[in-house]
Amino acid sequence: MKSEIFFMEKAIDLAKLGKFSVTPNPMVGCIITEKNKILSEAYHNKAGCDHAEVIALKKLKRKVNKNMSMYVTLEPCCHTGKTGPCSDFIIDSGIKNIFVAMLDPNPKVKGKGIKKLRLNGINVQVGLCRDKAKEINKGFISRLTKKRPYVIAKQALSIDNKITNPRSKWLSSANSRKDVHFLRAISCAILVGSNTIHEDNPALNVRLNKKDFLTTDKIRNPVRIVLDSELNLNIDKYKFFRGKEKKIIFNNILDKKDMSKNIDYVKVKKDSLGLNLNLILSILAEKYDINYLMIEPGTKLLKSLIKKDILDELIIYKCPLIVGKSGLTSLSVEKKINGKKSILLESVKKISNDVRITYKFLRE
Ligand SMILES: NC(=O)c1ccc[n+]([C@@H]2O[C@H](COP(=O)([O-])OP(=O)(O)OC[C@H]3O[C@@H](n4cnc5c(N)ncnc54)[C@H](OP(=O)(O)O)[C@@H]3O)[C@@H](O)[C@H]2O)c1
Repeated sequence: MKSEIFFMEKAIDLAKLGKFSVTPNPMVGCIITEKNKILSEAYHNKAGCDHAEVIALKKLKRKVNKNMSMYVTLEPCCHTGKTGPCSDFIIDSGIKNIFVAMLDPNPKVKGKGIKKLRLNGINVQVGLCRDKAKEINKGFISRLTKKRPYVIAKQALSIDNKITNPRSKWLSSANSRKDVHFLRAISCAILVGSNTIHEDNPALNVRLNKKDFLTTDKIRNPVRIVLDSELNLNIDKYKFFRGKEKKIIFNNILDKKDMSKNIDYVKVKKDSLGLNLNLILSILAEKYDINYLMIEPGTKLLKSLIKKDILDELIIYKCPLIVGKSGLTSLSVEKKINGKKSILLESVKKISNDVRITYKFLRE
C-alpha cells in the first residue's frame, strides 16, 4: 500500500522536471490517483502554458469519481495570469480530494485558491511534504517574499586557497566544470565582477546539451550580468557581450537599453564596497523576475557578498593543486568578517579528484 507521502514525493520529483524551462514560474508537479494507483501525472513546463493540475486533468482518461485524489506540490491558482485559474478547472472537473504541499507565496493567491476549493465542497489538506516542496522553489519563494533572488556563489579553489593559477586556465576537473554548467542551466541569471571579464574573457553560457541533462526541454542560457561601475569594459572585445541573450551591465553612469545587442545598462548607487548589491538584488527580482542568481565571484566580489550578507549558498570546488604565491587568494579578509553568521555545511561530494562543498547561510 503506497502512502500519501509517496504520491506527494512523486509529484515533487515530477515538478523538478521543469527546472530548465519553467522560470520565472514555480516548479509544480501533480498526480491523480485512485485506490493507490496513479492515473495521471504532469508537471508545469513553461510560463504561459497549462499548469500541472490542468495538464493532469486533461490527460486523465477516465471520468472523475469520488475515489480519486489529486496531489499537487503548490496551491492551485485562483487568478487569471497568462492562463486561467486552475481552481476553476479543478472545481469543474469534479475531483473532491486534494492534497496540497504548500501555499502559493504569490499575494494574488496565498490561501485564496484553497479557500475557493473548500467553498466548492472540495476536501483540501495542506502541508504534506511542505519542506521538500519549499526546497525546490526556494528561488521563486525568495523573489516573492523577500523581493530578492535566491543567491548561490561558486568558486574553484586550490589546496592553498587560490582562485587563479597562472600556469593553467582551469583549477577544477572537467567533471566539476560540467557540474558548474548544470548550476548555470538551472539559474535564471549569472553575475560576475568586471575583473573576471577582463582577466578571463568568459562566455558564461551553458555548454552542455539536452543529452547531458537527460531532458527533452530546451536548455536556455541564463541572463548574463556584470558589475562594471565606470563602464570600462569594451563590449566589442569580450565574449560575455556576444550572442542574443539578455545582458545587464550594472554601473554608476547611465541607464540605457541597447536593443541591437540586447544589453541593458542599469545605473545604481555605489557604497563603500562598490555598486550597491542589495539594490541590484531588488532590481533583479522586481524588474527582471530572477528567481535564482548564480554568482561566480573573484576575491573582491566574494568579500563584498559576505560583508553584505548576500549569499544563500556558497559552493566551493576544492581542487588537488598547490598554486603557490603567484595565484590570487580567495577571501584574504577573513579576520574582518563578522563571525556571528550561521553557516551550515549542506553537502560534500567527490567529483573526479575535486570535492564540491556546499554551505548554506542561514538568515531570518
Ligand atoms: N576560481 C574561481 O572560481 C573564480 C571565479 C571567478 C573569478 N575568478 C578569478 O578572479 C579574478 C578576478 O577577481 P577580482 O577579485 O580581481 O575581481 P572580481 O571579483 O571578478 O571583480 C571585482 C570588480 O567588480 C566591480 N564591482 C562593482 N561593484 C562591486 C561590489 N559591490 N563589490 C565588489 N566588486 C564590485 C569592481 O570593478 P569596477 O570598479 O570596474 O566596477 C571590482 O573591482 C580573475 O582572475 C578570475 O580568474 C576565479
